[in-house]
Amino acid sequence: MSGHGPAIPMTSRKSGPLSGVANVPGDKSISHRSLILGAMAVGETHITGLLEGEDVIGTANAMKAFGADVERLGDGEWRVNGVGVGGFQEPEDVIDCGNAGTGVRLIMGAMASSPITATFTGDASLRSRPMGRVTDPIALFGAASYGREGGKLPMTVIGAADPVPVIYTTPMASAQVKSAVLLAGLNAPGKTVVIEGEATRDHTERMLVGFGAEVTVEDTDEGRKITLTGQPELMPQTIIVPRDPSSAAFPVCAALIVPGSDVLVPNIGLNPTRAGLFYTLQDMGADLVFENERLEGGEPVADLRAKYSPNMKGITVPPDRAASMIDEYPVLSVVAAFATGKTEMPGVHELRVKESDRIDAMAKGLRANGITVEEGEDWWSVEGLGPENVPGGGTVATVLDHRIAMSFACLGMATQKPVHLDDGGPIATSFPVFEPLMAGLGAQITRDNT
Ligand code: S3P
Repeated sequence: MSGHGPAIPMTSRKSGPLSGVANVPGDKSISHRSLILGAMAVGETHITGLLEGEDVIGTANAMKAFGADVERLGDGEWRVNGVGVGGFQEPEDVIDCGNAGTGVRLIMGAMASSPITATFTGDASLRSRPMGRVTDPIALFGAASYGREGGKLPMTVIGAADPVPVIYTTPMASAQVKSAVLLAGLNAPGKTVVIEGEATRDHTERMLVGFGAEVTVEDTDEGRKITLTGQPELMPQTIIVPRDPSSAAFPVCAALIVPGSDVLVPNIGLNPTRAGLFYTLQDMGADLVFENERLEGGEPVADLRAKYSPNMKGITVPPDRAASMIDEYPVLSVVAAFATGKTEMPGVHELRVKESDRIDAMAKGLRANGITVEEGEDWWSVEGLGPENVPGGGTVATVLDHRIAMSFACLGMATQKPVHLDDGGPIATSFPVFEPLMAGLGAQITRDNT
């Protein structure tokens, strides 16, 4: 899991109109949570539509190591026989979460209130990311953690033998931190409370309710307050994982910038904590419509239809929308290059601590392709060149970051000259069928060595 083998250089070339139906994979956030909560329930959880990307497979393996019985039944179909809250066994070996920040942070939370010890590691990207944001709150439950300088992996977590419930205000907008605290709270007696200043994706809260936990959510003056009653017996569930809006972003954005395109991306979750990109694109003047809007499993879902949009304008993205589109700024910046005028993206400090420093990675790659980018610690802006005027011709470093790789693959579909990726391998972490799916729409993405 730590690293994905030899680099896979790729080239993305000007593509004919993209057309057809893009069936994107299952939601990564919900897939991780399905496996972890399934492992903490008593009995058999049945999952369909699970994302079978490297990140999620890492979480499936981790749940086995903690004692759950996890089995793949077919394409995206899995069963998890859980050990119950507090039932995790001590893993015999190091838990390697590969590239997955969500995987490692949620699992650290889930085991922090059990009397077991586990050591976590990951690839070079994950080993450079801050874990203090999780080890600080789990210490309040009574867990101890020993990692490298700066709270980096590899790290050993010694779970609390007598966990106490916690009241915690998250210092940054992070669903991973919120979720780690809630999962740790499951095995603490009494009520664990998390307060978040800005609402972040709420899948953990929703799914905990589905699994039978008592969770209440209130809007207060300090923010969104989530209260969990500890030590429930979680009931196994039948989970149909919706398709990932963060993966849908790539075919949608590619269609907006490739002349003549018309692409349908069906069954996309439009949970308001995830859908910010689509509203931003509409604000820019994109021809993007939600068709067949409906509720599925309590979540708003729609089919997205995206058409070539030569009249998009740069805008200032509202900073209070950042949490609901945090993973989509890289591909938004690609679209912004084809709009007229400047797109400003303030309030995005968290982009600096993702799978890569995404502001830095995108700024370097966009500049290498003739696009002007300005940046500060928590903001950046892209100067739009208008449709069909973006030069391209650069080689970009994808820095172990799937979303950087896919964003530049989209860029190359509409630039004058091809865009080269030093390594497309990271794409497999979240969107293993990206290449055939985009090829099916008409994209020209090739591997350089084949
Ligand atoms: C995720 C939360 C976000 C997001 C990540 C998935 C999750 O990270 O960037 O891709 O599933 O909880 P933060 O919570 O750190 O913002």
